[in-house]
Amino acid sequence: MTFLITAGPTREPIDPIRYISNRSSGKMGYAIAEAALGLGHDVILISGPVNLGPPRRAKFISVSTSDEMFEAVRRHADEPDVCVLCAAVADYKPAQVSRVKIKKRAAQLSLELIPTLDILDSLGKRQNRKFLLVGFAAETDHLEGNATKKLREKNCDIIVANDARIGMESDENELLILFRDGETKKISRAPKKILARELVKIFQNSQQKSLTKKM
Ligand code: C5P
Repeated sequence: MTFLITAGPTREPIDPIRYISNRSSGKMGYAIAEAALGLGHDVILISGPVNLGPPRRAKFISVSTSDEMFEAVRRHADEPDVCVLCAAVADYKPAQVSRVKIKKRAAQLSLELIPTLDILDSLGKRQNRKFLLVGFAAETDHLEGNATKKLREKNCDIIVANDARIGMESDENELLILFRDGETKKISRAPKKILARELVKIFQNSQQKSLTKKM
């Protein structure tokens, strides 16, 4: 199978030297990419800026902004059997990007922010998609409720939910997996590399099941 995986944060420029971003390390997405390669799959890894070396056998695409990530995913969206959108894409970006460094002044400064394009949502809306669509939900509150809402609204097959306070910038995570048919599965706290192998096995089984159903 071919896996398309997004990982890491995005950077939304304010001016040539400043940006808005978040604390995503990319570790979960990279671990899923390594695990998929280890189980014999092909991997397209589309990554925001992180301090990790790309897996050697992956097709690696490095991006910075949410617009670049959106475009890279769009370009490759006909290839995968499984799409795992693990990236912490910024939800907002500055309405305008200053061409020159914004100077410090005594007065207060406000930034106008506009929503970014939602990559997961755009894949969920594709007509007759053949790939399994997996989204992630890192939450600080109401984990199951927020994740269930995301599963429906973004038309995913699976949502992998975690408490952002455990998983962000960490080598470990604790997961709650929600499936389209209402089934749920908990995986207790473990290193991301171990969790990644479990996840890839779950994704490949779900993809096989959905193929058999369509045959
Ligand atoms: O809505 P929220 O950002 O919490 O949803 C998280 C999920 O949506 C993750 O799978 C993330 O990769 C994806 N996402 C995306 N594009 C965005 C925002 C989130 O693909 N602009």
